[in-house]
Amino acid sequence: MSDEQVKYTLPESEIPTHWVNLLPDLPGDPIPPLNPQTQEPAGPDDLTPIFPMGLIQQEVSPEPEVEIPEEVREAYKLYRPTPLFRARRLERALDTPAHIYFKYEGVSPAGSHKPNSAIPQAYENAQAGVRKLATETGAGQWGSALALACSLFGIECEVFMVGASYDQKPYRRAMMETWGATVHRSPSNLTQAGQSQQSHPTGSLGIAISEAVEVAATNDDTNYALGSVLNHVCLHQTVIGQEAMAQMAMAGEEPDVVVGCVGGGSNFAGLTFPFVRRVLRGEARTRFVAAEPSACPTLTRGAYRYDFGDTVGMTPLLPMYTLGHDFVPPPMHAGGLRYHGDAPMLCGLVRHGVIEARAYGQNTSFEAAVRFARTEGIVPGPEPAHAIRALFDEAEAAKQAGEARVILLGLSGHGHFDMAAYDAYHAGRLEDVEFSEADMEAALERLPEAPAIA
Ligand SMILES: Cc1ncc(COP(=O)(O)O)c(C=O)c1O
Repeated sequence: MSDEQVKYTLPESEIPTHWVNLLPDLPGDPIPPLNPQTQEPAGPDDLTPIFPMGLIQQEVSPEPEVEIPEEVREAYKLYRPTPLFRARRLERALDTPAHIYFKYEGVSPAGSHKPNSAIPQAYENAQAGVRKLATETGAGQWGSALALACSLFGIECEVFMVGASYDQKPYRRAMMETWGATVHRSPSNLTQAGQSQQSHPTGSLGIAISEAVEVAATNDDTNYALGSVLNHVCLHQTVIGQEAMAQMAMAGEEPDVVVGCVGGGSNFAGLTFPFVRRVLRGEARTRFVAAEPSACPTLTRGAYRYDFGDTVGMTPLLPMYTLGHDFVPPPMHAGGLRYHGDAPMLCGLVRHGVIEARAYGQNTSFEAAVRFARTEGIVPGPEPAHAIRALFDEAEAAKQAGEARVILLGLSGHGHFDMAAYDAYHAGRLEDVEFSEADMEAALERLPEAPAIA
């Protein structure tokens, strides 16, 4: 056996003790979320009907580090630290001088990075005496993660699942039910928001969010939990990047470029923000590449404006690249990447040129994912398939330049519940749907009244 190391693993004692909060290091003036009625900066009071104070404090914390509660670190032990791999077989298959590493979050019980935030969210709500959490799920990953986390902390979980995914992924629903959650197909008839959207039977994340927020806002004992976009979710995910940093040090390398996929931005933020902070502080010159689907190209084509986080317009207005809050993406398979906006922190970094964004079609992404599976073994989720596609571009660029560049990929989850999508890809039935200029112009006209962002 050669002495070429493939896996870099950390002991449980190396589970991070703090989350990295990038908020105080962000370039430019802070751009606060707005109360949609008053157009004034939204404060903690705007959030108390649906979030516990522990999470609100994390959402607005000015501290560069936030301590991880002991109970949360205990629960993280179920699957953390996650492994970092050197993709030596893929390097050889691509015939690239690049050194390719990937941080694999698919070892969590739910199969993705999502429990990193579901666990602290369930914990803070349980601490606050909340009886039930309501949420939305697209591909089913977030709903599974929250169902798992609620079962760990003894609270109920109600999930509104995007209609297209509900139909395509019965086993994701069964998984959530196994952890004790109640799952509804969205749009449902259970909420006013759902009733108003029956003309969109395939649903969207925005519609499902509206349903879950409505349930939380109208029931005293119920709160809402969001699986991406908000500051506290990005914060929780930074366990990924901190571990990766320690594991890259074990390998004796520094990434030249970090690549990940973006739906609402949480896994990308989690992997990159600890590295981004070093760049913002002038301590490193790492590049960051965010990959998104060309059917839902928020970062590459969206307008940088204030918009609602949900379809019906119940959330505060968030500063972000948006395709319009009523955007209903085509029912393509990469369900987790179908959100109309992105995390404000991530959008600000794209705006300031710290992060590059690229959009890829799903056929080319699945092609990359299949090649990855045939060399590295793991069958990637359709979401990180887009990041693998971007990784291939970076590996080719390294080859053209003749440089042994170090590339770090975020492999946010496995695709074991997405085999219908792989099946469609193998049968040549996957369609590449582009977002048109006409779609964008129509979306811009429907954006809410709000101040322009300088
Ligand atoms: C495996 C996986 N990766 C990525 C995403 C995209 O979400 P985010 O951008 O918040 O990481 C999802 C969303 O469901 C997912 O399941």
